[in-house]
Amino acid sequence: MTAAAPQPLWSSEEVVAATGGRATSAFRATGVSIDSRTMSPGDLFVAIVGPNSDGHDYVADALRKGAAGAVVQRRSAGLAADAPLVETVDTLEALRGLGAAARARGRARVVAVTGSVGKTGTKEALRLVLSSQGATTASEGSLNNHWGLPLSLARMPRDARFGVFEMGMNHPGEILPLSRLARPHVAVITTIAAVHSAHFDNERQIADAKAEIFAGMMADGFAVLNRDNEFYEHLAASAAAQAGCRVLGFGRHPQADVRLLSAELGGDGSLVRAAVLGEHLAYRVAVAGEHWVLNSLAVLAVVHALGADVKSAARSLAQFQAPAGRGRRQSLPCSGGTFLLIDESYNASPVSVIAALAVLGRVEPGRDGRRIAVLGDMLELGSDSGMRHAALAEPLIAAGVDLVFTAGSRMDRLWEALPSSLRGGRAADAGALRASISAAVRPGDVVMVKGSHGSRMELVVAALKSLGGVAEASLPLCAVSGG
Ligand SMILES: Nc1ncnc2c1ncn2[C@@H]1O[C@H](COP(=O)(O)OP(=O)(O)O)[C@@H](O)[C@H]1O
Ligand SMILES: [Mg+2]
Repeated sequence: MTAAAPQPLWSSEEVVAATGGRATSAFRATGVSIDSRTMSPGDLFVAIVGPNSDGHDYVADALRKGAAGAVVQRRSAGLAADAPLVETVDTLEALRGLGAAARARGRARVVAVTGSVGKTGTKEALRLVLSSQGATTASEGSLNNHWGLPLSLARMPRDARFGVFEMGMNHPGEILPLSRLARPHVAVITTIAAVHSAHFDNERQIADAKAEIFAGMMADGFAVLNRDNEFYEHLAASAAAQAGCRVLGFGRHPQADVRLLSAELGGDGSLVRAAVLGEHLAYRVAVAGEHWVLNSLAVLAVVHALGADVKSAARSLAQFQAPAGRGRRQSLPCSGGTFLLIDESYNASPVSVIAALAVLGRVEPGRDGRRIAVLGDMLELGSDSGMRHAALAEPLIAAGVDLVFTAGSRMDRLWEALPSSLRGGRAADAGALRASISAAVRPGDVVMVKGSHGSRMELVVAALKSLGGVAEASLPLCAVSGG
């Protein structure tokens, strides 16, 4: 214990004020958590009642692990009489109260990021470039929903100068309350595309659901929009309906405020020339793919909107690492040599698979190596699903992919559409695909693994990572379901 304890993130008095609850004793918390497995000592534990589990079952555990206090809506069994609690009517409302209070008490400039793809990547790039210009906080991972966003806000340090928050949705009406809570100074919509389209009749409805991000904007805010997207005008009109909201467009479009002049797309990054409100810049983006170039334009537009240093931000992009499962690369051992793994296992949708295949097409395999794509089902695509899976055959061929492995029944449509020379192997799920892909990999190969989160393609990644050391027979043999 050091003498000078840092100012707590939350005192029990502040928690009471923010939630309207009642404290059983005084405490000071240095963080906020809703999961006793991942919490840190000193956290305020908020017992959220979820569809699959009830945080109240873990309050005692959290306190044992050093939680400073817990926000509850009922007293669970096994708690000491003097347990430090804040008793509230509804813990999710309490979490929202904490988020609102954190937002109100600080002076951070707040950026909200949504879009059909690229939210987390853009958010992480903003975290990186803004961190070198002032204390920056950002949502962890993809904590972007009705509890993830309030939790992220509640974690915002008092002295944050910039706060970057991801907002996601599967249904209309979900982003609106998130925007009202975060009250962004700058709202970014990376792009509109058919992702989670099962819950929408058409892409225009998706655009409208994303436009809810403008609902809570601060007066005189900025909307940062993809100038090349077909819904640009529609979104710009909807942003302009907010008081004083200005629009910055990014993209290739000649009228884009942050405009791509040229991009040299390399196998391991891109050299970009862009005009930011007329000022020409050249910079390097250290993650390969045109999609990252476009995301970088959105980042610079946000930096400009915040009044921060655009040139310095552009320089920082050379340091950017692809977030885990979103294009991260690793050279790995296999029998007789090494191969390159491109780990895209975190998620997949038609646009992001096509973007990733374009990158794969620009990576040169080693001697005698091949380009191998390992693809798991793209979920939540609704009635277009079969067609969109089959349609991947064309970009696979265009990218010069030599061998395709598929996992999942939706991918059967792609399998059928593939020339037989490209068919490497298929299986009912990621777990069952491990043996055949593991057996196929040779030195010099470039292997890209991609699939929707629920397709669990990280199992294939884990199997590939163990090729050099662990004998394949020792891989667990259990079949793995989707979910
Ligand atoms: N602008 C973009 N266009 C197409 N694909 C993208 C774009 N930005 C990121 N991606 C890809 O989409 C996938 C999901 O990226 P991520 O940043 O996690 O998005 P989200 O948070 O919106 O789900 C990754 O494979 C990533 O490489
Ligand atoms: Mg995300």
